[in-house]
Amino acid sequence: MGAGTVGSVLLERLSDPRSLPVQVCLVANSRWRCFDASGLDPRDALAQIQRARAGAGGGETGVAAGVHRHPGSGELPACFGPGDIVVDATASESLAAWHPRWLHRGLHVVTANKLGIGGPLLRHQRIRRQVEQGGHYGDAATVGAGLPLLRCVRELRAGGDRVQALAGVLSGTLAWLFDGYDGSAPFSERVREAVARGYAEPDPRVDLSGEDVRRKLLILARASGHALDGADVQVESLLTPALERAADAAAADAALASMDASLSRRAREAAAHGKVLRFVARFEVGTARIGLEALPPVHPLAQGGACDNRVAIWSCRYAERPLVIQGPGAGAAVTAAALLDDIRRACA
Ligand SMILES: NC(=O)c1ccc[n+]([C@@H]2O[C@H](COP(=O)([O-])OP(=O)(O)OC[C@H]3O[C@@H](n4cnc5c(N)ncnc54)[C@H](OP(=O)(O)O)[C@@H]3O)[C@@H](O)[C@H]2O)c1
Repeated sequence: MGAGTVGSVLLERLSDPRSLPVQVCLVANSRWRCFDASGLDPRDALAQIQRARAGAGGGETGVAAGVHRHPGSGELPACFGPGDIVVDATASESLAAWHPRWLHRGLHVVTANKLGIGGPLLRHQRIRRQVEQGGHYGDAATVGAGLPLLRCVRELRAGGDRVQALAGVLSGTLAWLFDGYDGSAPFSERVREAVARGYAEPDPRVDLSGEDVRRKLLILARASGHALDGADVQVESLLTPALERAADAAAADAALASMDASLSRRAREAAAHGKVLRFVARFEVGTARIGLEALPPVHPLAQGGACDNRVAIWSCRYAERPLVIQGPGAGAAVTAAALLDDIRRACA
């Protein structure tokens, strides 16, 4: 499910017969799907649904045999059953709502979509229950694009440790935007460059609102054993009222300059105290907040390469100095690799 930036790289990798002993039977974007119970060539299927999507005005005339309208829901052909794997490489809320149902049917779920375990708490709990009963839920791509973050938190817990606090730079896009930003050049220009380089979403408000980071913090805190709900996280959005009001991506682009003055002031104030700005997510029992912080450049969360994710974990074992995990936490290649790893684990 999902043949966009991440899904298409994954399908490319799956078309290499040496990659994994799996057969791809269904490939879908939001409007079309290609299905063959006896197996598809992933690269051909991708090309066919992309062609159908590009010409998707009318009905099914002109689309290749085997390509059909996709209902957009998680309803699967009846031949899918226990042991089969559904990969969710979308950001779709309606598909995320299907994660517990797929698990209940005995399917394995592998996901880059954060809205499953990072969505409503009840959904997260239903998924965890299914996993406790033996279901496989591969979620390494949801936070840190496959960095061993969730795995590490779960292994600490399994070893009897207790995670007491977490702090991190969880958005590769926001990490890039604030890396080297000192307030001298307009922030809006950096945002436009991030969009042009493909680091930010075409409508950068998705990144600037902090909503994506909220989901990631929820996933990490929940994996640490804390039943946090979305409303428990206080988010300082970077969006100005003008950006919030903008009706579409073009209007948002026109309103980007409304961020410049206040961010430039904050960066200059930080620099005057020898600090740099970072967009940080923090959780400790009782509080969770996300927003801009001024940090000394030697702080672990202020370091690393431009798009790197950085997470510090304090636990009983790591009480005085945190365990720090850092590395590239965005991009289609590392995310698709994380999905492949989870598919491999589901096959094991
Ligand atoms: N890009 C990254 O670097 C990155 C890194 C880590 C995690 N992620 C996560 O990975 C997921 C995918 O990201 P992306 O960058 O690949 O997004 P994208 O380029 O926007 O692709 C999303 C794909 O999902 C399809 N889709 C939407 N609703 C669907 C539905 N109901 N059924 C089937 N397909 C549906 C879209 O179809 P249409 O083409 O028809 O719209 C599109 O093909 C997101 O959850 C994102 O947060 C991305």
